[in-house]
Amino acid sequence: GQHPSGLSRGVKPVAEPLRILFVSPEAVPFAKTGGLADVSGALPEALRRLGADVRLVLPLYRMVRQAQIPMAALDLALRVPLGDTLLEARVFEASSAGGLPVYLVAREDLFDRPHLYGDGRQDYYDNLERFSFFAHAVLRLAEALEFQPHVVHGHDWQAGLIPALLRYPYRTSRWVGTAASVFTVHNLGYQGLFPASKLPLTGLTPPEVFHLEGMEYFGKISLLKSGIAYADAVTTVSPRYSREVQTPELGAGMDGILRRRRSALSGILNGVDYAVWDPMRDPHLASAYGPQDLSGKGRCKQDLLQRMGLDPSLLERPLVGMVTRLDVQKGLDLVLAVLERALDLDLGFVVLGSGDRAMEDALRAAAGRHPGRIALSLGFDDALAHRIMAGADIFLIPSRYEPCGLTQMYALRYGTVPVVRATGGLDDTVSAFDPATGEGNGFKFSPYTPEALFAALAQAITLFGDPAAWRRVMDNGMAADFGWARSAEQYLALYRALRPGG
Ligand code: ADP
Ligand code: GLC
Repeated sequence: GQHPSGLSRGVKPVAEPLRILFVSPEAVPFAKTGGLADVSGALPEALRRLGADVRLVLPLYRMVRQAQIPMAALDLALRVPLGDTLLEARVFEASSAGGLPVYLVAREDLFDRPHLYGDGRQDYYDNLERFSFFAHAVLRLAEALEFQPHVVHGHDWQAGLIPALLRYPYRTSRWVGTAASVFTVHNLGYQGLFPASKLPLTGLTPPEVFHLEGMEYFGKISLLKSGIAYADAVTTVSPRYSREVQTPELGAGMDGILRRRRSALSGILNGVDYAVWDPMRDPHLASAYGPQDLSGKGRCKQDLLQRMGLDPSLLERPLVGMVTRLDVQKGLDLVLAVLERALDLDLGFVVLGSGDRAMEDALRAAAGRHPGRIALSLGFDDALAHRIMAGADIFLIPSRYEPCGLTQMYALRYGTVPVVRATGGLDDTVSAFDPATGEGNGFKFSPYTPEALFAALAQAITLFGDPAAWRRVMDNGMAADFGWARSAEQYLALYRALRPGG
């Protein structure tokens, strides 16, 4: 009814907070190989700020131990099924900067290894065992804590069994049996494929799950498909990617099941954690700067040139940066194809990357031919990633496909103008600069060809020669707000829609 005083209008009976079990194979600051870790570090915090009771669960890898984050052993030993055996798991609790409870599932023989999923040449041979164990451990943990989630939200193939486990063996569980499941696809390229003979290890029975509408994928088990097939809601990390994944071109063989599940499918754009990615308070930079005063950006550029052994005269010329996993996804073949011609545009290149050995070799050879003009750092280096973000003038992302992409959004905040291929989240976040209207925050190209990339880069270089126009495109980028609040609201709305009783 109507209240006479405006003050009490907001006072409705307070609903119980939404309880969310957030399950990810990586999250900053615990363990990271890519953007998923940035998302899983920030989104749960953003949800918590909106009033949800969120708990994050991750495996306790060696990388987590090495991060030396304070954590305490919980006084419980989980008994976790793996096929016919029960294995014990210990659990540690840490808390994030924002006070979010983070649970780390420990089992040394499975997770105390030099890498997360494999050594860069090969995946670990027992990844099915590792992540089946993890999926069961997550649900057993909720039971042991007597935490009754409204929603279990899993990310990528490593969490893909969870929706199927909730549908079948845990359906009658007092604590998790009523939970709805959300599954987020961060990248269709990683499908979690395993021989069908391993299915009994998961605790699921073949007739129930091993078929076209379940987790069968061309005769194998796909844990990614399991998540897609069984979750109550499936999301991708940008709206455009949610449409692309339904096409044969970008569906990676999953487009059929994704089309059949389209009423449960939606795209929610990732956000940026501006506590970590903001040049006004970035501890890695030689100088802070922001839209009001860009002089610090010049100092960052000078510092970067010096650290990377680049020609000091590049201070006045455009410097193109890349920070990327070296994977076919990321379009390095286009870059290698235009590199020599691009150098004729009188620019410098700085590349930080790690991954595929053949790509590393090709980049090393190119850099070797152009000392002072091309600088290369191979490896994973968070501090350098921040320094390139700040010190470069142009940030290049020529991806073959890109589910969302975070670095273009970081680049925008750092006043580093993105040149991107118009695909997935890159297309959703970068708008082409139009000199006539002064609108737009970057440059885009569509065909996956060296010519198209070259044309977009050349356009950017030309604009760079016009300081006022360049300042305009930088300002447009720095003014954009891709903070998590909006996306977190969209996830909450999705969770609420799934919650029994609304
Ligand atoms: P993806 O997850 O496909 O790799 P994103 O753009 O979503 O792409 O996220 C990449 C994240 O990983 C960013 O935080 C980026 O800075 C970081 N990153 C990628 N490669 C490296 C590297 N070699 N060293 C340090 N950070 C990297
Ligand atoms: C994946 C995608 C990337 C996305 C990230 C976080 O690694 O490749 O586009 O930004 O996940 O969602």
